Amino acid sequence: MRLQEKIALITGGAQGIGLATARRFAKEGAKIILWDVSDQGKVVVDQLIKEGHEAIFKNISVANESEVQQAVVEAHDHFGRIDILINNAGITRDRTLLKMSKQEWDDVISVNLTGVFNCTKEIVPIMKEQNYGRIVSASSNVAIRGNFGQTNYVATKTAIIGMTKVWAMELGRYGITANCIAPGFIHTAMTDAMPEEVRKSSLPHIPLGHWGIPDDIANGYLYLASDEASFVSGICLTIDGGAAR
Ligand SMILES: NC(=O)c1ccc[n+]([C@@H]2O[C@H](COP(=O)([O-])OP(=O)(O)OC[C@H]3O[C@@H](n4cnc5c(N)ncnc54)[C@H](O)[C@@H]3O)[C@@H](O)[C@H]2O)c1
Repeated sequence: MRLQEKIALITGGAQGIGLATARRFAKEGAKIILWDVSDQGKVVVDQLIKEGHEAIFKNISVANESEVQQAVVEAHDHFGRIDILINNAGITRDRTLLKMSKQEWDDVISVNLTGVFNCTKEIVPIMKEQNYGRIVSASSNVAIRGNFGQTNYVATKTAIIGMTKVWAMELGRYGITANCIAPGFIHTAMTDAMPEEVRKSSLPHIPLGHWGIPDDIANGYLYLASDEASFVSGICLTIDGGAAR
């Protein structure tokens, strides 16, 4: 098993890519800490426990610094270490620039960007103490190619690529790697919310001719979280069927 006895924290694990990642990591031997604003996360964890895995759930928002601080203490007390952080939680509030409200800007920045900062900042001291850690964050291929109606979202996903490079430089000396993933179109609730014509019009731009599934991204997270990637740091792995240019 590729994550035997590793303690893995996955944010936004109640559904979609985070859910697939929690299940994939558990099958590879990891013990799971799952955070989400949705109580559906408890259902996911209960199912994992029923299947013989170790897992805990906490309903928190990654955007809330004090909730994150408290939840890190609880998770660390429970498992004694935290080896892997998957900064996966993310939201969209799509609108063209001229129509985007300050609230829509702030909402996306606070979850997708400040949330990643909050979680990473609280967990790195634990990883430093262990002299071991794997940080993998969710960027997006729109960070590379831009996307109509996503000023707020693209700002956060581009920032994640930059922060990842900084963390690779700053944290390598502590045995910590930092990488990110840039998914293309993946079938989840986030993309189900897109208008049908936008979904259809994406297909000609994907050389492989179809959208991905959450497991395609879970497999990328798995590689970067595993010891197979122990000499990989500061990269953004695009998983999008060849769409990014
Ligand atoms: N689906 C795609 O096509 C796609 C493409 C590129 C990047 N991504 C990124 O991948 C990640 C997962 O996307 P998904 O499609 O599975 O999304 P999703 O909407 O299906 O799931 C996101 C999860 O995050 C949780 N969440 C939202 N706000 C939170 C908060 N403040 N604190 C904790 N949890 C919170 C939600 O409750 C949900 O369970 C996101 O960061 C997203 O931006 C997705």
